[in-house]
Amino acid sequence: MNIEQAVQSGGRVLLAEVRRQEKKGSPTEWIYDQLMALSTKDETLKIELFRFVDALPALKSPESVTRHLHEYLLRPDVPLPALPTTGLKFLSSSGPTRAFLSWASHFGAKAMAGRFIAGRNGVETTKAIERLRKVPMTFTMGLLGEAVTSEAEALSYQKKYIDLIADLAKISESWEPVLQLEQAPWGRLPKVNVSVKLSSLYARFDPMAADATVAAVRERLLPILRDAKKHGMFVNFDMEQHDFCTVTQRIFKEIFLEEEFKDWADVGIVIQAYLKRAEDDLVSLRDWVLERGTPVFVRLVKGAYWDYETIMAAQRHHPVPVWEQKHLTDACFERCTEFLLDNWEHLRPAIASHNVRSSAKAQAMAKAKGLPSRAVEYQVLFGMGEPIGRALASQGERVRVYVPFGELLPGMAYLVRRLLENSSNDSFVRKAGEKGVDDALLAEPTSVPTEEPKAALTSEDPESAGDEFMNNPEIDFAVPENQEKMRAALRDMEPHLGFTVPVVIHGKREEGVSVFERKDP
Ligand code: FAD
Ligand code: 2OP
Repeated sequence: MNIEQAVQSGGRVLLAEVRRQEKKGSPTEWIYDQLMALSTKDETLKIELFRFVDALPALKSPESVTRHLHEYLLRPDVPLPALPTTGLKFLSSSGPTRAFLSWASHFGAKAMAGRFIAGRNGVETTKAIERLRKVPMTFTMGLLGEAVTSEAEALSYQKKYIDLIADLAKISESWEPVLQLEQAPWGRLPKVNVSVKLSSLYARFDPMAADATVAAVRERLLPILRDAKKHGMFVNFDMEQHDFCTVTQRIFKEIFLEEEFKDWADVGIVIQAYLKRAEDDLVSLRDWVLERGTPVFVRLVKGAYWDYETIMAAQRHHPVPVWEQKHLTDACFERCTEFLLDNWEHLRPAIASHNVRSSAKAQAMAKAKGLPSRAVEYQVLFGMGEPIGRALASQGERVRVYVPFGELLPGMAYLVRRLLENSSNDSFVRKAGEKGVDDALLAEPTSVPTEEPKAALTSEDPESAGDEFMNNPEIDFAVPENQEKMRAALRDMEPHLGFTVPVVIHGKREEGVSVFERKDP
């Protein structure tokens, strides 16, 4: 049997098991299904619904809930179906019904969030972890919160990570080892695994100030990493938007090359296959591991910020960093999987996908390449990928669930990413529920025809705008060469600093009466 035949037969077995594992019928599922049904009717309705869900936790009074419902959903251009429109209009018409509407909206949002978020704190989340371990599936804990806007908030996140490690160290003492989860061909894996979003640790996380960001994040990370290492835990860096990608990779590579952490094998980073640069990043990571001498884990994902990346690139007139057709991302995911399997002794593969084809391909390739059993880990998200997780676990695979926990307000970005992902026309999870689609679901991504890419207006090509007015695009500081140019410009500027800048009015330099001293931060 060749690899593709193995993918097809393995994929069908997995798909059948995934459908068997899917549970329906709880009130939470009902609320979620209603939201998904509405959001898939129309793109404008979907955007307005998710904007409302996003704003809801911050709305404290029934009046503000009602006002937002009107502003987002009860507009003539939003095609909300007749029944909910009449219901919402009636409920928002008087004081007592407005109070009920507000209560019901908050209740619905919390119930839906409960599907994707395991708990508000360590204790609530531990119950979910202990339930998963019985399957058996292990976990990585993800603290909700990212892109903080103040240093006080960043410090509070640092403390939360430190407290989480201390709590998990105690709680996990009573967990009996589970060989299927903790025995890899190269040795034992830690029972506790924590995922960190670096943008939660520094309020001015900015690739334009790459050196300052690296230094500040390193300082905040060190106590977290020291505690995790002391307790024999695993730490994984999540990957966020493309702007943060090169800085995150630099922090990972610099810290884990330091003497104190150089031999630590229980660390990992994420590679996003939707990025056109994904394969280059993998090669560079493998070369870095060869220099380091100790392997690291790579969680391979497709990427959770696709809408953001495409919209931001269009707004900034930057080249789009992600593939713009779904099958190109899928094909890149399969190429990256193959690279990881070929380099598994340096880059420990963790295949994170809810797409049966993507996981079945990894299984088939691992077998064909003769990798030892459980050299590959499979990862899924809490509340979204458990059916495929259970299906893989029942075949004896090593499966890890990403378990997010924390408060709803900082968790909204995470929740909205899941809603966007699940309601997308291209989503595997959404399509898997339909009938008669198995062939298409399992089709080779390279068999899908690729459309001609749209000609984009980019910063390299402002002339292509013709007569149309176009702003000069801002520089893309995710590109390391641009970071270096910025550093060089600051170096060149420094000897000249401390000069008087005159006021120029209508092209004429004016001498003012007073001189104000200003220091650029
Ligand atoms: P599929 O339905 O096969 O793929 C959906 C994905 O395809 C989209 O998410 C997008 O990436 C891509 N896509 C959709 N439309 C298009 C299009 N038109 N053109 C090109 N590509 C398109 N994501 C992160 O970014 N950072 C993380 O750190 C991270 N950690 C994760 C940890 C775990 C354990 C898991 C399971 C996921 C994690 N993710 C992370 C989220 C992950 O990126 C998404 O869940 C994943 O992209 C969904 O892919 P899929 O293979 O499950 O589903
Ligand atoms: C996200 O936060 C799971 O890291 C991924 O969307």
